[in-house]
Amino acid sequence: MERSLTILSKLNKHLVANYEPQLIADHGSGAWLWDVDGNKYFDFLGSYAVLNIGHCHPRIIAAIKKQLDKLGLVSRTTPTEALALFSEKLVHFCGFGETGKILPALGGHEAVEKAIKIARKWGYETKGIDEKKAEIISCIGSFHGRTYGALSLMTNQQYKYNFGPFLPGFIQIPFGDIGALEQAITKNTAAFIVEPIQGEGGVIVPPSRYLPLVSEICRENGVLFIADEIQTGFGRTGHNLSCERVKVQPDIFIVGKGFSGGVEPVSAVVGRAEIMDVIKKGDDGSTFAGNPLSCVAALEAMKILEEEELSDNAYDLGLILKQGLRNISRRYIKEVRGRGLMIGVELVENVKTENLIRKFMAEGILLGASHNVLRFNPPLNIGREDIYWALPKIKKVLES
Ligand SMILES: Cc1ncc(COP(=O)(O)O)c(C=O)c1O
Repeated sequence: MERSLTILSKLNKHLVANYEPQLIADHGSGAWLWDVDGNKYFDFLGSYAVLNIGHCHPRIIAAIKKQLDKLGLVSRTTPTEALALFSEKLVHFCGFGETGKILPALGGHEAVEKAIKIARKWGYETKGIDEKKAEIISCIGSFHGRTYGALSLMTNQQYKYNFGPFLPGFIQIPFGDIGALEQAITKNTAAFIVEPIQGEGGVIVPPSRYLPLVSEICRENGVLFIADEIQTGFGRTGHNLSCERVKVQPDIFIVGKGFSGGVEPVSAVVGRAEIMDVIKKGDDGSTFAGNPLSCVAALEAMKILEEEELSDNAYDLGLILKQGLRNISRRYIKEVRGRGLMIGVELVENVKTENLIRKFMAEGILLGASHNVLRFNPPLNIGREDIYWALPKIKKVLES
């Protein structure tokens, strides 16, 4: 571990410690990640559900290299064909067809900020909410990012501690509770923002009828239904977008993470043109958003997802992985939940996940956790053999 330790000491000296390093990464391929000392790990962490097509997918790398030989970066005042093709593909991917528009961004939080801006502006200019009165409803336990708009949507005190004051006009209600949504809506409500499955919150799956009812209530009350599919999107839950499972079409999707192809940062707000068009020239901008490298990566990633039928694979393998995890003794596991390859294993109270994660690494498995929930977010193109390789190791660690 010599190289790891040398690099770690430099990181500890010069890098703000807002993350705890699990290893010092060197290279990756598919579901595997190597550290600088040559140790190999099966990557269930997937950069927190980003590596949906694995590390360094050759088609993504080739698409980026080809674009890089031609043009690396331009401003939005000199857009590229890559941006046009990406926009066209993404609106269709999100089910808006010819009537959809996108506002591109890079990180998930940035797209969340843009969605909040669109919702408020739509609230004033289309719905007719009085000046400065717009309200946005979100859910207790949700995660939307670490910027002020995103944090204002959230309740988790760890993320918010000593960063206040936050933005006014945000109301949080229990996740999965339709009655609470009905009660919280007022004439000033511009939007309801919700994750189809809460990811960072501990892989919380709402009741099946929740999203269809959300859609209905939002429509009846003239409230925008915004689905934050940054984590649940791009095939992760066994469908291209998690809302597809329950045949729900929100007014706006926020997407990110997996659309990057695991290489270039990509996120976007995607919605119907009549809503998105509240943003006029000069109302919004971002130097690197919609850059050609991100666009070709996202385009290729969406093609791979569809051509390799990775959503279906995630669905099938998710069932196998969940069942395998459920077969591990109930002495250690309280609940196994999730959809597709977005799986959370809630451990019994007295188990500390930090210690366990080290033990998993010793077995060649890289994992993340939220509180006492282990999170399994492997690439969607893994095979059954990968699951059969991992399950005995997972069992061994949990029983140790
Ligand atoms: C549902 C959801 N929204 C937003 C974000 C923020 O994305 P980013 O870390 O790219 O800013 C995340 C990140 O985990 C997320 O899971």
